[in-house]
Amino acid sequence: MNKLYEGKSKICYSTESKNELQIFFKNDVTAFNSLKKATYESKGVLTAKISNIIFKYLKNNGINTHLIKVLDDQNVLVKKLEMFRIEIIIRNIAAGSIVKRLGIEQATVFERPIFEICYKNDEFSDPLINDDHCVVLGLSSQEQLNEIKKITHKINKLLLDLFKKVDIKVVDFKIELGLDADNNICLGDEISPDTCRFWDKNNRKLDKDCFREDLEDITAIYLIILEKLESLNI
Ligand code: ADP
Ligand code: TMP
Ligand code: ASP
Repeated sequence: MNKLYEGKSKICYSTESKNELQIFFKNDVTAFNSLKKATYESKGVLTAKISNIIFKYLKNNGINTHLIKVLDDQNVLVKKLEMFRIEIIIRNIAAGSIVKRLGIEQATVFERPIFEICYKNDEFSDPLINDDHCVVLGLSSQEQLNEIKKITHKINKLLLDLFKKVDIKVVDFKIELGLDADNNICLGDEISPDTCRFWDKNNRKLDKDCFREDLEDITAIYLIILEKLESLNI
């Protein structure tokens, strides 16, 4: 196995098949474009297990995802995608950067989900862009973006339904998509408390904000999310 890429929280390895990758979920956690870093034993297992449950659920509900097979607690076999160099964010409730950027009060529930695109570029701290930037910078076509919007709103509805069953609010989340070998848009990367904001009914934070804001031990917090999802037996 050859290491193709090591990111902040995962490592991608090549496999015998040119259309497949092995992804390892690291124990590292970073925030603020790596200004803050730490390592927690079992963190990779927690994010991998949570993401795998969510990806299987999305697949069973008609979303094209990269997940082929769970190899072990920290490794998955996935379709190798040609990733769009964009991060897609959906916000249902105000938190994080939108609070600072637009002066909206935290916890304001939006009358409709807000769809955002960020240019995936650490050098420029993943800036917010719009459809025109995306097309002009060659990050995707308008048709692909329209399709990405449709898929992302569908994922949002599915996540809201899923987490409602365990009394958790999906405040916002980030996803990454790419093109598979058949040129279809496919959900890649991960969906976990590293890439989402989850609040319980009392607005207790159950995600990476616990690390960003030094609130609680993230492994204990991520375990709460995992146990709730496991209790659903999906
Ligand atoms: P980062 O690059 O932001 O530090 P990670 O540590 O999560 O992020 O690294 C995982 C990398 O693998 C990301 O750049 C992501 O876009 C990429 N990736 C995720 N899923 C796939 C896939 N199925 N095919 C190809 N690349 C992928
Ligand atoms: P933000 O409020 O900081 O812009 O984050 C919006 C959502 O995106 C939140 O659920 C956290 C997630 N996110 C990532 O997954 N990776 C990132 O690099 C950033 C900045 C946010
Ligand atoms: N993922 C980014 C980083 O690692 C930012 C964040 O999630 O807060 O630095």
